[in-house]
Amino acid sequence: MSAAIGPDSTDSIATDPSAPMVRADRVCKNFGSLQVLKGISLEVKRGEVLCLIGPSGSGKSTFLRCINHLEVVNAGRLYVDGDLVGYREANGKLYELHPREAAKQRRDIGMVFQHFNLFPHRTVLENVIEAPTQVKKIRKADAVARAEELLARVGLADKADSYPAQLSGGQQQRVAIARALAMDPKLMLFDEPTSALDPELVGEVLGVMRELAASGMTMVVVTHEMGFAREVADQLAFMDGGVVVEAGDPREVLANPQHDRTKAFLSRIL
Ligand SMILES: Nc1ncnc2c1ncn2[C@@H]1O[C@H](COP(=O)(O)OP(=O)(O)OP(=O)(O)O)[C@@H](O)[C@H]1O
Ligand SMILES: [Mg+2]
Repeated sequence: MSAAIGPDSTDSIATDPSAPMVRADRVCKNFGSLQVLKGISLEVKRGEVLCLIGPSGSGKSTFLRCINHLEVVNAGRLYVDGDLVGYREANGKLYELHPREAAKQRRDIGMVFQHFNLFPHRTVLENVIEAPTQVKKIRKADAVARAEELLARVGLADKADSYPAQLSGGQQQRVAIARALAMDPKLMLFDEPTSALDPELVGEVLGVMRELAASGMTMVVVTHEMGFAREVADQLAFMDGGVVVEAGDPREVLANPQHDRTKAFLSRIL
């Protein structure tokens, strides 16, 4: 099926190590007549962390969902690791990927949600090995070994046989991170990973994310944890009404916001 996106001047990029991990070029998304993203242009280089902030309804989650093609963009282009997300380009025209191909693209992108979405009837270990064994067809023994390594990394080596309901929210979220990492993603997306947690549990999850960033993972993080954004992010983007109002070095944006809308938002949350 031909996409609703007209061909534009952008050349298709072959996968190249210096290419950004994520490149959004005037990305638009509508739900019916509601325009939610109105031309988002952003780049995340390999190994960089981008934090997204903005008021409720500004389109942050929608943008994340477009990056891993849970939503189809209506206009503009989105590339992950040099590949056009959800489309194939041939003879200057865009064709929507077959769902199977789209799913394959999505496998390389880990996503962590506000509400951990663990399988409640499976143990922690079973949660972590589910996708590697079912989707990637990795041998169970290998998946278990890798899961144990990842659970140790997020500080939960002793919880492998527990069920999600037996864990605190912070522990469940760390399992969700280990589960996403078990697919060896090249990009991790986080949608308000700590906003459902009791304040005393926020730090342990941010600690794991900080370690992940330090290990070189490319990350896009929707969060209102400004301490994390200031210290860990390479770039902070403030979204409002479906546009990026301003983006830049987090310390700069936070200390010296250029736009009234950013100032007003920051004064409400800081
Ligand atoms: N599937 C959908 N169908 C219709 N409208 C939607 C859908 N998903 C999101 N929207 C609308 O798109 C707008 C942006 O939503 P989105 O969830 O991206 O905002 P957000 O910035 O993540 O907000 P929050 O901070 O509350 O999570 C909202 O007006 C929302 O109601
Ligand atoms: Mg959201």
